[in-house]
Amino acid sequence: MNTCVIGLQWGDEGKGKVVDQLSETADVIIRYSGGANAGHTVVRSSEEEAFALHLLPSGILHENKLCVITNGVALDAETLLGEIQRLAERGISVGENLKISGRAHLVMDYHKTQDRLSEEALGKAKLGTTIRGIGPCYADKVTRTTAVRVVDLLNKDRLKEKLKSIVELKNKIFAALYDNPEPVDFEVIYQKCLLWADALGPMITDTTALLHRIWQDNKVMLFEGAQGTLLDLDHGTFPFVTSSNSSAVGLAAASGLPAKSVDRFLGVAKAYSTRVGSGPFPSEQDNDIGQYIRDKGHEYGTTTGRPRRCGWLDAVVLDYSIRIGGINELALQHLDTLSGLKELQICTSYKLDGKKVDFFPAEADALDQVECQYETFPGWDEDLRGITDFEQLPENARNYVLRLEKVLGIPIVMVGVGPSREQTLHRSAN
Ligand code: GDP
Ligand code: IMO
Ligand code: MG
Repeated sequence: MNTCVIGLQWGDEGKGKVVDQLSETADVIIRYSGGANAGHTVVRSSEEEAFALHLLPSGILHENKLCVITNGVALDAETLLGEIQRLAERGISVGENLKISGRAHLVMDYHKTQDRLSEEALGKAKLGTTIRGIGPCYADKVTRTTAVRVVDLLNKDRLKEKLKSIVELKNKIFAALYDNPEPVDFEVIYQKCLLWADALGPMITDTTALLHRIWQDNKVMLFEGAQGTLLDLDHGTFPFVTSSNSSAVGLAAASGLPAKSVDRFLGVAKAYSTRVGSGPFPSEQDNDIGQYIRDKGHEYGTTTGRPRRCGWLDAVVLDYSIRIGGINELALQHLDTLSGLKELQICTSYKLDGKKVDFFPAEADALDQVECQYETFPGWDEDLRGITDFEQLPENARNYVLRLEKVLGIPIVMVGVGPSREQTLHRSAN
């Protein structure tokens, strides 16, 4: 069975943990969208420190699994090589087991500079990006003439000509738009590209052709989504989104495989909500409850270290993400983080101007104004981290999950009670 793991909120739902678990029974793990804005944490056992992966598929920690980075990824080669180096220092080797699409677009230093300058210029109106150059890289992809793809690394003369004209243009644009931008140096960029070409060259291939062969051979494919549905460029809380289709709809364009190649879309959500960066967040708790969740759940960004905004679980958001993505099953993470709260709330509908909203609002302004209608649940005090069976959960914790399952209408097949692999309760989909 081929599975695609998709975040159903604003990212950081625990996708890395879920992908790591499912990797055991997969042949190929495929990262198909986003870039180094993602930070996927894998904790193999409770005694072990965490692995934070930004570009490598989370299956890379498993031996004998093929990992693939497809065309939809904004590839920051420097970050990728750093990641490979850090894994090597911890005894995990990356080489033959990684394939990278020549069609993927390269994130260059000037993309990161542009991301930072643009956010600084916006001041209070900033998007709160990760400053990883994601927006500018995808913008160049759409522009076409200013894009550099991974395959360009393989033709040094053509690359040189291309980079020269792009750098000239970038310098003109930066000088026109921003105060005192540091000039982009062609030679520095070109020399970096030569290093990347040497290091990554053997891994570059046509991953679309590769994946079609793998699909035909009935190998088990596991797709690792990045970000979350509410950060999707088309379907998220625009403009406070990322620059790719991070919901399930993005998979086909970003991998070259049709959606029907996936048998199961597995959504991942936290048992509460978080968001990093700016933008609407109807169930946000900017108070003691939010702080309690942030402290207990260690809610600080894997990529930027920024404190995550925290709030109650929003079933309106989940229902929307499930519909958009054709999500079949749910993995609910961080149930353990809610221990110790006297009462819990789940937002089950929104009201706007006194009227019940019947579909997730398209406009950020409307989302800023909606009033959450909550169902209240009694909390529990027990520490859930040692529990190994769903039936052993305190009654109130079990009821919280069962009620959510009823509201959403899809089975909750995994329940996270801690960060490590074994801290997951499995339930049947029937
Ligand atoms: P991703 O981007 O979706 O892969 O998620 P991140 O790795 O950015 O953030 C999720 C954080 O929650 C990581 O620190 C995980 O180790 C941690 N985590 C995942 N599942 C659980 C869980 O069930 N309980 C607790 N306490 N932590 C979890
Ligand atoms: P994972 O895969 C959480 C957010 C940023 C910002 C917005 C735009 O770990 O779930 P960008 O740098 O993409 O232009 O920033 O998107 N964002 C994420 N938030 N998890 C992520 O990835 C994110 N990737 C981007 O915080 O609000
Ligand atoms: Mg993350």
